[in-house]
Amino acid sequence: MSTPNPGRLDPTGRVIMLSGANRGIGAAIAERLHQDGYLLSLGARAPESMAEQAGENCLCHAFDAFDPESPQAWVDATFAKFGRIDGLINNAGISEAFGFGSGDEAKLDRMLEVNLKAPYRLIRAALPHLKAAGSGRIVNVTSLSGIRYKMGSAGYAMSKFAANGLSSAARAQFWGDGIRVTAVAPGPVNTDIITDLGPLSREDITTPETVADVVAMVLALPNNASVATVPINCLFDALP
Ligand SMILES: NC(=O)c1ccc[n+]([C@@H]2O[C@H](COP(=O)([O-])OP(=O)(O)OC[C@H]3O[C@@H](n4cnc5c(N)ncnc54)[C@H](OP(=O)(O)O)[C@@H]3O)[C@@H](O)[C@H]2O)c1
Repeated sequence: MSTPNPGRLDPTGRVIMLSGANRGIGAAIAERLHQDGYLLSLGARAPESMAEQAGENCLCHAFDAFDPESPQAWVDATFAKFGRIDGLINNAGISEAFGFGSGDEAKLDRMLEVNLKAPYRLIRAALPHLKAAGSGRIVNVTSLSGIRYKMGSAGYAMSKFAANGLSSAARAQFWGDGIRVTAVAPGPVNTDIITDLGPLSREDITTPETVADVVAMVLALPNNASVATVPINCLFDALP
């Protein structure tokens, strides 16, 4: 458990939902938030893979972004266990090759479903509880590819630009309810989702633990110190 920081919200008793918690950046966030002392509701397609984390302070629940009923069921189970929900971290995401060549829109549809529509549905489902908390937090793990296009899947960039739009709209609409929304937008991070590193090596790129550290920081900022977007670069990037 971390030493209390007077400049940040006290994690004690705060309940955080985290999607895609079983591996990659999500697993690093789960580990970090557990160390910080939060109560966790971890969503994954195969929650049994996280069984050793389940207990009094941690719910492991099914969450499948392709199932429109899944967000409400997970939110309801979280509230049933803890009686409150203080934060939602939309982390689950996919990337598939999609550009202007084959135009296989099924790939684009899948990315929009997981990277945009499921986060939207989770926000809607969690909203009454986040409003009731008075200091609700939403963190959307988007991407630098959702701020400017540089390389890789155009469809992924399209879905992440939209996810940044979701963040921006939610931030404006729910500010008055004490909800603060942040888009954490990394460049390449050393996880399974990265298949083409170009000239970079795995050692050059950002670690999941560093992204988790950033997420932990924005999650704990008080209502009067909100950050809208956090771009994370491993290389110099002249963002627009
Ligand atoms: N790594 C990077 O370079 C990078 C850069 C910028 C942004 N991001 C974003 O960071 C987030 C986490 O990515 P990562 O790097 O940790 O990738 P990852 O290692 O591939 O993990 C992706 C996570 O999303 C989950 N997921 C995928 N499809 C899902 C579905 N239909 N329903 C529920 N969960 C689903 C996966 O669960 P399963 O194990 O069940 O597949 C897994 O937990 C994503 O939003 C990604 O776009 C990553």
